[in-house]
Amino acid sequence: MQIADFTLERYFARWEFAVRHVLCASDVEPYRLPELLELADDDCRRRWESLSLGYTESQGMPALREEIATLYDGVADDDVLTFAGAEEAVFLAMHATLGAGDHAVVAWPAYQSLYEVARSIGADVTLVPLNPADWSLDVDAVAAAMRPTTRIIVVNSPHSPTGAQISSEHLARLASIAELHGAWLFSDEVYRFLEHDAPPLPAAASLSARALSLGVMSKAFGLAGLRIGWLALRDRSLRTKLASLKDYTTICNAAPSEVLSLIALRARERVLARSRAIIRANLSALDAFFGEHSDRLSWVRPRAGSVCFPKLAGQSIDDFAATLVQREGVLLLPASQFGYPGNHFRLGYGRSDMPQALEGLARHLRTN
Ligand SMILES: Cc1ncc(COP(=O)(O)O)c(C=O)c1O
Repeated sequence: MQIADFTLERYFARWEFAVRHVLCASDVEPYRLPELLELADDDCRRRWESLSLGYTESQGMPALREEIATLYDGVADDDVLTFAGAEEAVFLAMHATLGAGDHAVVAWPAYQSLYEVARSIGADVTLVPLNPADWSLDVDAVAAAMRPTTRIIVVNSPHSPTGAQISSEHLARLASIAELHGAWLFSDEVYRFLEHDAPPLPAAASLSARALSLGVMSKAFGLAGLRIGWLALRDRSLRTKLASLKDYTTICNAAPSEVLSLIALRARERVLARSRAIIRANLSALDAFFGEHSDRLSWVRPRAGSVCFPKLAGQSIDDFAATLVQREGVLLLPASQFGYPGNHFRLGYGRSDMPQALEGLARHLRTN
């Protein structure tokens, strides 16, 4: 298979574990194992203590799929398939829906696999840019990009790297466009449950039988290391295809990760309250920070998720980020890592060390 390097992930591979503060992380502060086990109900504790470390059920542990289904309206246990993180689900969904010569329409900027896997299959990809004034998606532009060969529309909301959130009406319109063209709507909802001032939007899988909703334990649940993601989709034949493709990648999920995910999902009120408290505190620190540094930095305040996409004035962000990481050990993610032009950078506000990271950034702004 010929596929371009995943620029952002190569950048993280170089820096993530070599710096003091990852100020561009997209996940919420990870749980420690004992902290998570304290949340286990009696059933989960029994499952954990008697866990068999053999192969697991390929489509996912039944109790886990049952719990995941409760995150959605109109989605049954059987409509859920689990994967190794969201990333395996993206990879297999593109392979299940696209072939050489097909066409995909993808909102952009985007997490690279959302369009690069399609390209590697030989599909033609139309990137529909978000409006930088508020990072909204022009649904009419998506409709205009559709062709007879379009097999999939790919969107991400809450959005990385911008923190934008699509409206319910727009999501419903995208589902209708997909239905009208006999295409799929792939809705990357990995940042769901991190909406700042609003309840979660209806998931795409609840709106349409032509939609796939992508979820994961990595972001709002603070459990990226478990590598548990899922797709919720109501179309049985596509589910069968996805399940067959998984036989060629991971076969099944890791047994400990399934039980630990079940613990977190059953305790989700407490887990999400912890995440939202971190995010709320960090967002108010960011309000003050951007107020103080308005001569150099501007931002569209994010509406959801754990990342935003501010802009630096007065110096190239690539140069600035390179000296910042060397002098202060603080990592930013320049827009170039998304293949996006200009001086934006991704900043993450889900981690507990964000205030210390901001101090390093402030010092660097004063001297650069
Ligand atoms: C928009 C988006 N989709 C998918 C993923 C992949 O998630 P995971 O690392 O949990 O597989 C990420 C990770 O950063 C992401 O930001």
